[in-house]
Amino acid sequence: MSLALQGTIPANIPLKAVGAFLVLNICAWLVIAISRRRTSNKTRSSSPDLEKPGAKGKPTRPPGEWTPSDFKRPPAAPYPDWDVHSTKPIPYRPFRYGPKYFITMGLRSMKWDEWIELDNHYLKYHGDKARRIKERGSKCCRTAPEAMDAAIELLEELCAYLPERYPSMFTKTPTGITNTVTNETFNITQRPLPEDPMATAARLVQDDLAIMIERPDGEYYLLAGAILLAGFWRLSDKFGMRLSEIHTSGDVPGYKSKLEKGMKNFFTRLRPEDPVLRNNYFIQVDDELAWSPSIGSEDGENVSWNTAEKNRAIEKHFFRSERQSLRRLPRSGGVVFTIRTYFVPIVEIVKEDYVPGRLADAIRSWGDDVGVYKGREKYQDVLLEFLDRKHKEQVEGGLDVEKEEEVRKYPF
Ligand SMILES: *[C@@H]1O[C@H](CO)[C@@H](O)[C@H](O)[C@H]1NC(C)=O
Ligand SMILES: *[C@@H]1O[C@H](CO)[C@@H](O)[C@H](O)[C@H]1NC(C)=O
Ligand SMILES: *[C@@H]1O[C@H](CO)[C@@H](O)[C@H](O)[C@H]1NC(C)=O
Repeated sequence: MSLALQGTIPANIPLKAVGAFLVLNICAWLVIAISRRRTSNKTRSSSPDLEKPGAKGKPTRPPGEWTPSDFKRPPAAPYPDWDVHSTKPIPYRPFRYGPKYFITMGLRSMKWDEWIELDNHYLKYHGDKARRIKERGSKCCRTAPEAMDAAIELLEELCAYLPERYPSMFTKTPTGITNTVTNETFNITQRPLPEDPMATAARLVQDDLAIMIERPDGEYYLLAGAILLAGFWRLSDKFGMRLSEIHTSGDVPGYKSKLEKGMKNFFTRLRPEDPVLRNNYFIQVDDELAWSPSIGSEDGENVSWNTAEKNRAIEKHFFRSERQSLRRLPRSGGVVFTIRTYFVPIVEIVKEDYVPGRLADAIRSWGDDVGVYKGREKYQDVLLEFLDRKHKEQVEGGLDVEKEEEVRKYPF
């Protein structure tokens, strides 16, 4: 259902509509929540009750007025044996066998220790981000005045969390944080800050970051962001927009009334103590992490899967997966969205047991609208033939397809 929603975006529309990506991802959570409520709660134990009317998080406050919560994030335990040069990225492979994968995909509660994931790609991501902050500035990193407090609170949260979780790379200082690997020190008490606080926050982690702020009309607006490695969408197209407005510009017929309401409830009820996670994935037909040039120039007016070259060599196919977290900041009430991208050549992930067979099945199970949204037409011939062949090799090599559920647990 969530993917059907995303898939209703036609492939040949201007980028500003494709930029609804972030928000559609959020909408997707709601649709999932709604469908789960309708079906069953047998498997709900790991998910928060955000979607339930009358849940204990139901606010009594007037819209747009946040009373600072006294919630404090529990201190994080150090990531076991973490090392910036040797800790490998977590191999999320969040695709499912069709056709019902969309029903079981969705929200799960986040453990506070696991808010931010860093690994041995840190220095590459850090370098790419620094270059893009320099080259693109406010096109990629921006904070509206009314989101400044939330952006600073995010920075403070990172300055507290990262030294707890990754002590071999970060040290807390009286005025902020030092990265002992890159030798950067950030004084976050300085005023004015030397750069946009979202840019500083982005330099600390591998994630893209966005903050939604509730205005007195009760709507959430995208008012701070550091969107540096998102591949398919630009902050400058969506900055300042209301969630429902972005949603409308994405032209999602039929879902509008339900989604608008669900989306608003989701955000309004989100409590600082209820952080959540979800994963998703895309196929990309070039090897650029920051921006996928296959869908058009980042500075062009329009981007579209239509411009992508069809049936490129399999070596040009990349697996882009996202791990997204959503939490509310206790002091400012801003809602922080982190988007961590993992980017791997297809020719690498097919070496993993079950992956080629399951990915091929997932891609085949997308509805037409999802297929259009995810550009399937441009790569399915080459990719599916390759995945089928690799799956066959695995089975012939003795892979027991019946055992899969025993050896893995979503989203791996
Ligand atoms: C950081 O400083 C240390 C000690 O001065 C030095 O050995 C190291 O090369 C520096 N790292 C970078 C990335 O500049
Ligand atoms: C950080 O900034 C504050 C405010 O400008 C200043 O008083 C302080 O000396 C700075 N600290 C460091 C370590 O640079
Ligand atoms: C962008 O899309 C619009 C509407 O589809 C079209 O009119 C315009 O010519 C396109 N611009 C470019 C540069 O392709």
